[in-house]
Amino acid sequence: MDLSKITEQFTESIIRDMTRVALEHPGSINLAQGFPDFPAPESIKQAAIEAINKDMNQYAVTWGTAPLREAIAAKTLRHNHIKADPHKNITVTCGATEGMMASLRAIINPGDEIIIFEPFYENYGPDCLLSGATPRYIRFSPPDWSFDFNELERIFNAKTKAIIINTPNNPTGKVFSEKELRFIAGLCIKNDAIAVTDEIYEHILFDGHRHLSIASFPEMEERSITINSISKTYSLTGWRVGWVIASDRITREIRKVHDFLTVGAAAPLQAGAAFALSLGEDYYRWLTEFYQNARDTLCSSLQETDLHPYKPAGAYYIMCECADLIRQYKLQNSLELAFFLVKSIGIATVPGSSFYSNPRYGQFIIRFCFCKNPETLQKAQTYLSKIPKATPDRGI
Ligand SMILES: Cc1ncc(COP(=O)(O)O)c(C=O)c1O
Repeated sequence: MDLSKITEQFTESIIRDMTRVALEHPGSINLAQGFPDFPAPESIKQAAIEAINKDMNQYAVTWGTAPLREAIAAKTLRHNHIKADPHKNITVTCGATEGMMASLRAIINPGDEIIIFEPFYENYGPDCLLSGATPRYIRFSPPDWSFDFNELERIFNAKTKAIIINTPNNPTGKVFSEKELRFIAGLCIKNDAIAVTDEIYEHILFDGHRHLSIASFPEMEERSITINSISKTYSLTGWRVGWVIASDRITREIRKVHDFLTVGAAAPLQAGAAFALSLGEDYYRWLTEFYQNARDTLCSSLQETDLHPYKPAGAYYIMCECADLIRQYKLQNSLELAFFLVKSIGIATVPGSSFYSNPRYGQFIIRFCFCKNPETLQKAQTYLSKIPKATPDRGI
């Protein structure tokens, strides 16, 4: 019997697989999957506990509780300069993950194409296929992870329905510049396409980089879908609360898909999320500082090894060139190195191959995450010091 021709085109997530491998090696440090190992803010947890104690146990309105949608509208206006009507433009979803899937399902028709920058967050390829679209890829080039404007212009065509933007970017840490976003906006308008933007790392920025939402450009208001969640900003990846902001017309379609996919996100956790979104600027300043220190700690530990890190401008991952280490240990590629590192050094990572349409493009790259408390990163430094350094620092 044939099963789905779509699902046979992709595997389960390698990122989440590496977490399972880490669990099989007690004592190892999980620098693979991006989730914090420190507590979420106490006040947010209390808000959710209070909602449960008040018996908020039944289905919420399918597209999200009114207080949460109002809190999203207020925060998005404050930080992103996007005007969103809580009644017409916001859909609360089970994380950004469902937000992306529901959005693509709501806009795609057979034959449509979606442009994806690579290396990309692993979900986008399968999301694209599950929505029925054909992915078209364009490469970022290290060290600054820039892309070729002419190439992007060539890839856009009459079949292009959407382009996925993830800024700040997982896995590269790239923060899209205003020039890049304006160029993409121009191509979307010229080709009647939609910008689907995943902005879940919007508050994790380093060295003065600033986050910009393409939906804040007036000409993009009607053709942007902005996706976000509480997972990364408030260290609540397990709560599964996210949201999508789009025009009235697009939102009507997204809400239909969302309703039949999941009905809704957990009601008491939406109360906790509404509280989280009302936190003041001090919280975001603390978050940025915390992650800037974490990035600097892990980067300098990696620089002491034969892994050559690219310093990220945002998000909480570091990509490293690992060809020297692969050679040193007589391995073939980053997948083998990832298994070697967890078994022999005690650190779980993600092989670069899982971020590319063709695994060969990422065979000499490996990703580490640093959303960990300072003690974990100190321990990681001790483990990493077991890796000998045979080649000079390349300063990338
Ligand atoms: C770019 C990006 N988008 C989405 C997600 C998942 O978000 P959520 O937990 O809100 O579903 C991740 C998780 O690592 C991510 O890196």
